[in-house]
Amino acid sequence: MTEKITNDDINYFPSINGNNEELLDLLRKTSELLCKWYSDTNKRSPLPLNNEFKVTYPLKNGSDVNNLLSEIEKLIYTSFCPSHPGSLAHLDPPPLTISIIGDLIASGLNNNLLAEELSPSISKLENDICKWLSKKIGFNEDSGGIAASGGTLNNLNALVTAKYSSGLTFNNEAVIITSEDAHVSIKKCAKILGVEDKNIYIVHTDKNGCMHIPSFIKLLNSLIDSGRKIFAVVATFGTTIRGALDPINEIGNICKEKKIWFHIDASIGGVFLLANNKFDNINNFNVCNANSITINPQKLIGIAKTSSLLLVSDFNTLKNTFQTGLPYIDSPDDVINRGELGVQGSRPAEIIKLWLGLRFLGMQGIEKILKESLLKKSIFIEKLDENKFEIYSGPLHIVSFLPKRMNAEESNNWTLKAKKLLIEKNYMISRPFYKGQYYLRVVFGNFNTTTLHISELTNLINNFNA
Ligand SMILES: Cc1ncc(COP(=O)(O)O)c(C=O)c1O
Repeated sequence: MTEKITNDDINYFPSINGNNEELLDLLRKTSELLCKWYSDTNKRSPLPLNNEFKVTYPLKNGSDVNNLLSEIEKLIYTSFCPSHPGSLAHLDPPPLTISIIGDLIASGLNNNLLAEELSPSISKLENDICKWLSKKIGFNEDSGGIAASGGTLNNLNALVTAKYSSGLTFNNEAVIITSEDAHVSIKKCAKILGVEDKNIYIVHTDKNGCMHIPSFIKLLNSLIDSGRKIFAVVATFGTTIRGALDPINEIGNICKEKKIWFHIDASIGGVFLLANNKFDNINNFNVCNANSITINPQKLIGIAKTSSLLLVSDFNTLKNTFQTGLPYIDSPDDVINRGELGVQGSRPAEIIKLWLGLRFLGMQGIEKILKESLLKKSIFIEKLDENKFEIYSGPLHIVSFLPKRMNAEESNNWTLKAKKLLIEKNYMISRPFYKGQYYLRVVFGNFNTTTLHISELTNLINNFNA
């Protein structure tokens, strides 16, 4: 006998014929919790000092929504708070209000960027926003791009495309060149691509943390002269420790002349290329000779994680590299399913929050965030005692520093203790390991940090004796 399924008494999912009062009530209650957490921010530390969160597990019967609300509350109150004005450790700014809404809409719609028939309007949105951004940074009509969940994955998308487009996918001896200050994700991508360490050629950086061009040229020529195949040169536009900018114009010219794929990891600095009014020390850079560029709006302009794009000067390179056919998707020949433009298959609609964020901020809002982050960094450097500290900072909003007149052991000890003191005073900064020792690093991507906070922070640092 066939059982009759009505589901009348079950509300696991949004109702398709009722008025969704329960969902509305739940959205209101969770929003209230989240908003209270934001409003309470100044009463807490950016990072809870004790992690009291206890994990609970599924039971035989499903849990009541109100029980879950109290668990959500515990989770919220034991979380890192990027909105705290003292949150200055990493490239994790507060989320823009509209980007929170973007994520809500994305999960509510639950469309899939794998295929156009699973996300008709959002596929178009992603395609067109990527194209708009590509042109904005200086690529031409042939350009385009794809979103992926983070900079690492987009560097991977770029390097897979580079290797394929150079005809070197199956060449185990193919070489990649980057600088000693490139992000570790480049090494990770090389591993995934089966590139052995000996085939990763590292160019040293100059005193400003930028790829040293004479050394790059020397290395490149010697590799070419000895018959080595190079599948990519990777420059960094915004290094992780000191916000330095590799000389992308020179590197781009050389790569173009030698016909080598040029990828720019602009995960950090890419958003600065969007500004209409360029900034001192940044305005002379251009990407016109790059083949691909990673940009992470999640790192500075407050698009909630993850928000990262790979933009390519020739959109066809993505299609040629990743197209496999999608046998379970029936689509017209002229449709490009976006699951065939990168390594990810099913993908959430992360583009919604980026699109809303860009619309909400406008060019003025974007420029305000960028300008203020640079200004805050300058104020910090101005107030940091130059007699006591060695300061390392490129044109972007990141500063690393070390105490002067200490040997490595004393300095490591000082940075450890200083970081601990600062978090007790509600300032969270980071302690990266760079060139053989620990530095302290401050990232000025937090809109809520004011000059008063910077004064307090520099006072604490200037007067700290371990
Ligand atoms: C220069 C640079 N590239 C790539 C990445 C990796 O980005 P994600 O953490 O989004 O994978 C980072 C992360 O900080 C970075 O600083």
